[in-house]
Amino acid sequence: LSSTYTAVNEPMLDYAKSNPETAQLEKTLEQYCDPIDVPIVVGDEEIRTGPVQRQVAPFDHKRTVATFHHATPEILKKAIESNLKARIDWERRPLQERCDIFLRAADMISQERRMNLIASTMLGQAKNVFQAEIDAAAELIDFLRFNVQFALKTTSYQPISADPKVTLNSMVYRGLEGFWAAVCPFNFTAIGGNLPMAPAIMGNVSLWKPSDTAVLSNYEAFKIYREAGLPPGVINFVPADGPTFGDTITASPHLAGLNFTGSAATFKRLWRQVGENLDNYINFPRLIGECGGKNMHFVHPSADLENVANGTVRSAFEFNGQKCSACSRLYVPESMWPQLKERVLSILSEVKMGSPLDRENLVTAVIDAKAFARIKGYIDYAKSNPDLTIIAGGNCDDSVGYFVEPTVIVSTDPKSKLMAEEIFAPILTVYVYPDSKVIETVELSKSTSPFALTGAIYVQDDAAKAQLADAFKFHAGNFYINDKSTGSIVGQQPFGGSRQSGTNDKAGGPFYMTRFTSPQSIKETF
Ligand code: ALA
Repeated sequence: LSSTYTAVNEPMLDYAKSNPETAQLEKTLEQYCDPIDVPIVVGDEEIRTGPVQRQVAPFDHKRTVATFHHATPEILKKAIESNLKARIDWERRPLQERCDIFLRAADMISQERRMNLIASTMLGQAKNVFQAEIDAAAELIDFLRFNVQFALKTTSYQPISADPKVTLNSMVYRGLEGFWAAVCPFNFTAIGGNLPMAPAIMGNVSLWKPSDTAVLSNYEAFKIYREAGLPPGVINFVPADGPTFGDTITASPHLAGLNFTGSAATFKRLWRQVGENLDNYINFPRLIGECGGKNMHFVHPSADLENVANGTVRSAFEFNGQKCSACSRLYVPESMWPQLKERVLSILSEVKMGSPLDRENLVTAVIDAKAFARIKGYIDYAKSNPDLTIIAGGNCDDSVGYFVEPTVIVSTDPKSKLMAEEIFAPILTVYVYPDSKVIETVELSKSTSPFALTGAIYVQDDAAKAQLADAFKFHAGNFYINDKSTGSIVGQQPFGGSRQSGTNDKAGGPFYMTRFTSPQSIKETF
């Protein structure tokens, strides 16, 4: 390894029916017929507490895919102590040795363990095979390899010495004193794998709190890190109830940083707790947050209609709309709406919904009962509100799994809560604007939501393109021109938003890794 190590994006498998990987996947899925018991792991110790939690298959809620345990405050404190102990050796290890472990993990996922991640993500998070491949294989492998490349690159900077015979200036890059808390979301196994791993590459130690609804796939990734050579205690795996976890980590004087993906409300709560404890910390904790979005596709009258229709259906409904980047509002000029509506409805009529185990199903089930009830609440609101008209979908059925039909709603009120609030669901709300009011509508759209995560403009006219791009400069951390608002690729489109969408630290890009290092600048005079 050297600072010139170059990562390349992992090629994706296509799971054609006759390909060997498909048979291998079928076999692996069988290994998960019975629930897997997932322990808390602190150092080398597996801990099982009294009450058992269950992770169920969202598409078949009678099926338990994993049982697991919530760490108590005492266990969390013990995990922090274990982290701090492991840190002494870990931060002294050469960066290249640490990188080597994570590159080995990437190779294991690429080869012999790929199917474990795919199968556990399909079952636990209701992704079809193609979506699981994008997330739990390709993206997680990319995070591992690109983080290594960026770690080596960002730490290769050395300052100059005006006269090296007299003075030597140097920089030594170390992990931060203390531990990192990684609070992970359900919707991407890759993000679960990234949040504790990125700090660890740089010489930090992490507490990994998986989402209760993604425990199984996160545990698969954790086991791979350990088997690839990660010493005990560098990352401790601690499923926990959210408030208990938040209270315990923010009360510890050793909190070095929080690497968070989840709702803006939870991030703010944790930030406030950190604020209240500022006098108790050894260091100012670094706070990295990747929160929500209310992302739009803004269509200019000069747009290519077919491109808009395909991109919008994919962005809004793939992954059941449970992507912070998903398009959830569409602004369309009046002149284009009749044909675009017809095209969107025609594409949607081909979209199948059902179990993720059937590769034909683009839409599966939303994550859990709580999400289902919340989403149904928005649909019921639309049904009873005269400003809102459901033109596709609108049915919800939780008799077997948490199924919500892909739903398109037209709003005559540009400020409707369906245009403004993040729903995290397969729901697209459309606002049709007068062709003569492009810029007014852009301004209106920007003031409708506090988020600034992703966004797309569809436009062929060059002058309009420049004007729209300028209008969106602070409103979409990931901005797409004539492409859908989802599907960023590690190393290609570093990901993150500002405003209420987060701290815009751009995971999958070089600067992300600098957040996890505490460099020492040394001047030696001879
Ligand atoms: N990085 C993911 C996307 O861009 C969330 O869709």
